[in-house]
Parts: sequence; C-alpha cells; structure tokens
Amino acid sequence: MTDPVDPTRADPGVPFTVTLDGRDIEALPGQTVAAALWTAGVTAWRTTRREGRPRGVLCGIGVCFDCLLTVNGRPNQRACLVPLRPGDAIRTQEGTGHGD
Ligand code: FES
Repeated sequence: MTDPVDPTRADPGVPFTVTLDGRDIEALPGQTVAAALWTAGVTAWRTTRREGRPRGVLCGIGVCFDCLLTVNGRPNQRACLVPLRPGDAIRTQEGTGHGD
C-alpha cells in the first residue's frame, strides 16, 4: 500500500556538492543544473549580450536557449538539460560566454 505521506516513494540517492561561481551548491543524482540552482534559490544565471538583462529557465525543455551557462569551462550549456555530476563547476555567463 502506498504511504500517503510519500506517494512517489522517491529515493533520489546521496546528495553531492557542485559549485556556482565558487560557492558550494548541493545537488542530487540525476538533477539538472537548472533544478539544482532553483533548489538553491538561484533563478537567473546569464545576462543577455546587448542589454545585460538577467535570464534563467524559460521553456525548461531545451528549446529556447535562455538558460545558457558555463559548465566545467564549456560555455553555452543548457542548464535545463545538463545533468550534474559530483564536483561540477558551474559559472554564470555574460553574453556569449566567450569574454566578448
Ligand atoms: S530553459 Fe529553454 S533551453 Fe533551457
């Protein structure tokens, strides 16, 4: 019989640590970058090229490219699609992420 307090019986596994701009963030196995950042209270992690406006998740399914950031030195990764691994280093991104 299903426990009414935990109907999903989810058991995500042991949390691990990643970093966002050098700050420790806790993540769970299978969690995307965006999910971990939301859980940590971070909703914007990129700025637009021309006006520097903040961006985070819009579509959440890999279509809009609004959620781009840098993961382990690779810019323009979609936060809503990239699963985290222990020790990943995430960086917020300005513009194209290539320092221009
Ligand atoms: S939120 Fe649209 S591609 Fe990630």
